[in-house]
Amino acid sequence: MSKKKIVVFTGAGISAESGLKTFRDSGGLWEEYKVEDVATPEAWENNPEMVLTFYNKRRKQVMNAKPNAAHYALVELEKKFDVQIITQNIDDLHERAGSKKVLHLHGEIIKSRSSVDHSLIYKIKGTEIRIGENCAKGSQLRPHIVWFGENVPHMDEAGNIAAKADIFIIVGTSLNVYPAAGLVDFVPHDSPKYLIDPQAVSKDYISNLTVKRERAGTGVPELVKKLLI
Ligand code: APR
Repeated sequence: MSKKKIVVFTGAGISAESGLKTFRDSGGLWEEYKVEDVATPEAWENNPEMVLTFYNKRRKQVMNAKPNAAHYALVELEKKFDVQIITQNIDDLHERAGSKKVLHLHGEIIKSRSSVDHSLIYKIKGTEIRIGENCAKGSQLRPHIVWFGENVPHMDEAGNIAAKADIFIIVGTSLNVYPAAGLVDFVPHDSPKYLIDPQAVSKDYISNLTVKRERAGTGVPELVKKLLI
């Protein structure tokens, strides 16, 4: 018999206990920076140096962070289930914990890409992208990040995966940013859904939902233990 499919949809909250800031919590990144200054194509056009500095700083933080109990618990789930992670996070903590299938909707901080040809993607050597560092076609390298106002290239693929979920688990996201936040609409009506987030507000539009108002480092291992029985 083939394994049941669990799709886990994660946001910044799953990495909070690894020391990485979320975006919209109090003290979050979007209190410190303006989205339009650092995370839009216009910002890149007007002030690429500022954009690179913002992501260079975040890359160093990610490289110094370690996966936490929530990331590791999701790896355990693979013992019994076919687990697919779909993350909005640009960190690589799911991969470093050992998760086998991870789809990044909003890009990956450890990679750069060409600003003229989006298929040219590189692993960054060291911690920084600098002005003057070019792709094979001679244009400036940019962070491999999906900015506000840009298409989410993996959204169709993510929707197809979510449509096959026997169980859908949402962890640490305010579900504010579309199209990613609409992923749950693709999940079959009858499939059990879980939301683990200390600030979760009621989500009447999500069918078959169990809300656990807990931090990821506690709530995810608890749920995983229950699912593995
Ligand atoms: N465990 C679980 N959840 C937590 C924890 C924790 N320890 N700490 C905070 N959270 C929750 C918050 O309650 C909040 O609901 O994480 C969520 C973080 O929400 P956002 O900051 O909005 O992050 P996210 O939903 O991932 O943002 C989506 O917005 O700026 C963009 O591209 C960026 O991918 C990001 C997207």
